[in-house]
Amino acid sequence: MIPTILPTYSRAPMSFVKGEGSWLVEADGRRFLDLGAGIAVNALGHANPALVDALTEQAGALWHTSNLYQIPKQQELADLLTEHTFAYTVFFTNSGTESCELAVKMARKFWFDKGSPERTEIITFSGSFHGRSSAGIAAAGSEKMTKGFGPLLPGFVHLEFGDHDALEAAITANTAAILIEPVQGEGGIRPVPDQCLKGLRELCDEKGILLILDEVQCGVGRTGKLFAHEWAGIEPDIMMVAKGIGGGFPLGAVLATENAASGMTAGTHGSTYGGNPLGCAVGCAVMKVVADPEFLADVNRRAGLLRQKLEGLVASNPDVFEGVRGSGMMLGLLCRATNTDVVAAGYAEQVLTVPAADNVIRLLPPLNISDEELAEAVSRLDAAAKTVAAA
Ligand SMILES: Cc1ncc(COP(=O)(O)O)c(C=O)c1O
Repeated sequence: MIPTILPTYSRAPMSFVKGEGSWLVEADGRRFLDLGAGIAVNALGHANPALVDALTEQAGALWHTSNLYQIPKQQELADLLTEHTFAYTVFFTNSGTESCELAVKMARKFWFDKGSPERTEIITFSGSFHGRSSAGIAAAGSEKMTKGFGPLLPGFVHLEFGDHDALEAAITANTAAILIEPVQGEGGIRPVPDQCLKGLRELCDEKGILLILDEVQCGVGRTGKLFAHEWAGIEPDIMMVAKGIGGGFPLGAVLATENAASGMTAGTHGSTYGGNPLGCAVGCAVMKVVADPEFLADVNRRAGLLRQKLEGLVASNPDVFEGVRGSGMMLGLLCRATNTDVVAAGYAEQVLTVPAADNVIRLLPPLNISDEELAEAVSRLDAAAKTVAAA
């Protein structure tokens, strides 16, 4: 008989009843060090007092009005986001996949309004992940995500990650945009080198097409800059955001330049819940912390520490690990053993990590995890690796 929860996930047996900073606690009091942070969502840890205060204050005042009316918290968050980024305008969503939907619509509408309705194609890359909606799976295009769900939304051109010649050749009079994650998350923590991002920006400018960045996983301080593309010194035309921006509350956003957003006039898009007062109150609280240069400097310092410790972990467990890759607090351990075995051995040591493609385990800890917790986490991973090696 089918479970009462649709069985689309194979879940680990743990069940948590409480979160405290970088820790998750089971009903019997067992504490797990959380290096997954809800897959890069709990950017400021669990039950962060500033976020709890923002949410409870808003919950006591007003939950929902719809976008038929002005929403002051939405304006406040849009002001914070536009002040700290390339963007001139923001649309709020509830998830990364909804941000993908709008990014695709916005790019197509841009060209339609410019008198080039044939420019509908969006170029994407192997190993990418942009969500589970029809546009999201068609954008990523992998068999794993699309098989059985056809007919797929047309208009996506899939290229090999890193093949520049193929990219140049794929841009035609029908191309609307290039869509890419600056650091692939689900794909196995694969950063796009800064030079390549610069090259992509130049190519888009030269060909007059839009650059859409998916920063759903790598944004909001995760790589040590507010947004990952800042490392390359470039700006996108459209950017997808979600996960960390809500710190655990479902919130996403699409940020855009005035030009790229020019087609999105009244009535062209909407959302019942997107940008509701609760989500935006939390989003403001998150932004006030993560946009602070001192906070980001500390994230970079801690990320350096973590990376150094992970290099040591790899060196002392050569049968289990092959290397470390990634950026900031978005790191991947490339495994020689089966990644899911390492993740499961971590559960026994009460440390949580997340598997990804390419036999990688992802480390996406809360950005404010302490130095002591990082040291403890790596020592637990070391114990897990010893178990896997001995098996
Ligand atoms: C890069 C990227 N884009 C989009 C998504 C989809 O986001 P959501 O699961 O919030 O719909 C994810 C989720 O993992 C992601 O990592």
